[in-house]
Amino acid sequence: MRASFLSRLPPQLSLLLLLSLRPAWTQEHVGTAPSRSPGAPECPEACSCSLGGKANCSALELPAVPAGLSWRVCSLLLDHNRVSALPPGAFAGAGSLLYLDLRENQLRSVHARAFWGLGVLQWLDLSANQLETLSPGTFAPLRALRFLSLAGNRLTLLEPSILGALPLLRVLSLQDNSLSALEAGLLNSLPALDVLRLHGNPWTCSCALRPLCTWLRKHPRPPSETETLLCVSPRRQTLSLLTAFPDAAFRHCARPLAARDLAVVYALGPVSFLASLAICLALGSVLTACGARRRRRRITVRPLLRRQLDPEGPASQEGAGSPTAAATQA
Ligand SMILES: *[C@@H]1O[C@H](CO)[C@@H](O)[C@H](O)[C@H]1NC(C)=O
Repeated sequence: MRASFLSRLPPQLSLLLLLSLRPAWTQEHVGTAPSRSPGAPECPEACSCSLGGKANCSALELPAVPAGLSWRVCSLLLDHNRVSALPPGAFAGAGSLLYLDLRENQLRSVHARAFWGLGVLQWLDLSANQLETLSPGTFAPLRALRFLSLAGNRLTLLEPSILGALPLLRVLSLQDNSLSALEAGLLNSLPALDVLRLHGNPWTCSCALRPLCTWLRKHPRPPSETETLLCVSPRRQTLSLLTAFPDAAFRHCARPLAARDLAVVYALGPVSFLASLAICLALGSVLTACGARRRRRRITVRPLLRRQLDPEGPASQEGAGSPTAAATQA
């Protein structure tokens, strides 16, 4: 009936009418969603969902990721809850998720496969949780990720394999953790990274800081952002600005091996093995040759020696026997 009524109006007017109807419809939907029967596929129970695919589960004291996430949820607000663990496939079924907010929960463990299936996720906030470690490959499935916050956790180490290669990641927030250095591989596998938040970590002024200092030099930030980036010298107990280290400051550090050096190292192994084998063979054959010669000489020398010794030997025996012989003869 509505359609026939609309078709009779001029097109501009019907469009206006439709647009004015839309907000009322959205509000009605928000109002009815939480009261839907449990397990309804459109919206997790206890959350409120809106037409744009937003599931609002904020501040509901939820102990875990709610069940009933569907393909229609594009944005999931789970902040300010009591979620302490993300099991494998925690967001299975929500493959269209673009935005996931897990701020201010009690997360201690995130399974290495917790984010499987979230190939289009662009925004992930895990800040203000209690994460101490993360498994290798945890963020590797999130190939579309542009924003990642791990701020306000207890991370002491962030291995490159945890993040994997995130080709589109632009913002990485690591402030207020317990990190002392960042490995070179981590920053190398984030080619699109532009904003790196680092303050509030116990950075150590050492050779391990070189990759980070190199990155900071290539991505200059306004002084207001970098003036709080300090590192501590463990020996002298002094603070230095992270951005104050020129590359020359790391001249004493062992340089990472270049491809040519690696080739030399790899070639050196088999070559030295073959060389030691050859030396062993040569030594062995020299020794056996010496042994054979000595034996041959002993064979030729022995009769000579015997001949040299023998004339006295039997003679003395004869001589020894001669007095008795002489006595008997006498
Ligand atoms: C989510 O819902 C809560 C009430 O439950 C509300 O206070 C908050 O503003 C909502 N957040 C968003 C982003 O809609």
